[in-house]
Parts: sequence; C-alpha cells; structure tokens
Amino acid sequence: MSAQILDGKKIAELVRSEWKARADKLAQSGIKPGLAVIIVGNNAASAIYVRNKIKACSDIGIYSEVHSFPEHATQDEVLDCIQSLNENSHIHGILVQLPLPAHFENNCVITSIASEKDVDGFHLYNVGALVTGNTVFSPCTPYGVMVMLERNHIPIEGQHGVVVGRSNIVGKPMAFMLLEQGATVTICTSKTADLSQFTRSADILVVATGKPRMITAKMVKPGAVVVDVGINRLPDGRLCGDVDFESVKEVASYITPVPGGVGPMTITMLLCNTILAAERAQASVKQF
Ligand code: GUN
Repeated sequence: MSAQILDGKKIAELVRSEWKARADKLAQSGIKPGLAVIIVGNNAASAIYVRNKIKACSDIGIYSEVHSFPEHATQDEVLDCIQSLNENSHIHGILVQLPLPAHFENNCVITSIASEKDVDGFHLYNVGALVTGNTVFSPCTPYGVMVMLERNHIPIEGQHGVVVGRSNIVGKPMAFMLLEQGATVTICTSKTADLSQFTRSADILVVATGKPRMITAKMVKPGAVVVDVGINRLPDGRLCGDVDFESVKEVASYITPVPGGVGPMTITMLLCNTILAAERAQASVKQF
C-alpha cells in the first residue's frame, strides 16, 4: 500500500493563517513584527532563500529588511550591523543567512545576535536552552518537521527516531527535539557503517544528508514515517530529496514529498519565531 503524503504546503498554509491572526493582533496594538536578514557574498541558493523569506514576511504582515554585504566584507563590518540591529526596537528577529564566506567565524557572528532576537535558534545560548529542554527558539527546519508530525497526529513518545545527518541546522536540533518529545533517538551520518541496520529500525526516519535518493526502500522498516529534508538538483534540472520517493512510498506509512514537504514549513516556522519574538518584546515592555 502506498504511504500517506505529509503535505507541507497544506500544513504551512494552515499554520501561517493561525500566526497571521497573531501578527494582526500585534498590529492592532501598534506593533509590526520586524525581521532583519543579513546576507554576505554571492551564494546563488542563499539569494533565492532570502528572497523567499522576504516575500513570505510581506504576505503575513512582518516588516523585513535585508542587509547585503559583498564577499570580501570583513567580519567587523557585519558585527557592527548586528550590533545596531540588536539595539533597534523595530527589529524583533535577526537572521544571518548561512553559509558565510570562509574568512568568517560562524559562532562569533551568530553569538553576536541578541539571543532574544535569534529567530533561527542558532545562538549558542539558544542551542544550550534547546538541549536542556528550555527551548527559546526552535531551529526552523526541525521545528517544521515536528509541526508536520504533530498536525498529522503521528505519535513520537516511545518511538525510535533515527536522524541521518548531523548538521547544526537540521540533524542535531532534530534529534534533541524528538528526544524532548520522548522518542528514543539515534543519530547517524551518510557514512555510518551499515547504515541500513539503523534506518531499518526507525519508526520515524528523518534524512538530511544532501545525498540524492540515498535512502532506498530496503533501508526502511515497513510502516515507518519517512521525513525527507533533502533538496537536490538532478543533472536534468529536476529536484529530488535524499529519499528515493518512488520506492520508499510503497513501504512507509507516511512520507514527505520533495518539493512540497519540509521545504514550505521551514520559512513558515521562521515567520512564527519572528512573531513570537515580537510578542515577547511586547510582553517585556508591558511589565515596566
Ligand atoms: N542556510 C540553510 N538553511 C538555513 C537556515 O535555516 N537559516 C540560515 N540562517 N541559514 C541557512
């Protein structure tokens, strides 16, 4: 039997309409949530991601501004920009699009963002908060995966979650978010010896390796929930995920398509985090 499709586009629309109501409520009290995006260099994919983020902000009623720096910009120039955004009360969220050019130190840049404006959830304080079960901002992609599971009433507690990929953006936070919801979690990489042994024991399999179609049907337990975070461009121009969708959909109980699965959720959760940051800023001002 063919798996049910986890339709990221549909869930993203629903979540955005719920959070638009929260943005509208803030607007009624004179607050427009504001997001600043910093982009350094000429990475073509980053430019597209940033454009999509800005468009999504405008659709939901978030003010946004982009600060573009050339590839040769110095880290100090970017740090100065972040400093002024930290002090700007119209800006509730700050995001530095990754990757940064090689002469930047990622952690130095990210930890210069005020932790209460770190809507990506990448600041070391916020990473520590997540790991200790005191989440401030959930990183957007794994947050989107969790919302997809929740909205489809997929149980997590007691299940074996296997995450293939160990990036700071997806794999690691994904593992901790599943763990926090009571899953038993295994983290693998694309190079794990006998990877199938692990993936075949997954009730929930999340794949974020950047290796086109590396997960095949024989690597998946019948009835598993398969979440594909990958988005790869094939030589013929088509997009595909890290999971071989056509074969795995015959084995899994649920599966995310690429495109139209996790992708639409990522930007949605960024919007949610920005509105949340604005709500918190409003609440903290009210106290005084
Ligand atoms: N590059 C790839 N994904 C992301 C993301 O979620 N946030 C940022 N800031 N950069 C990225």
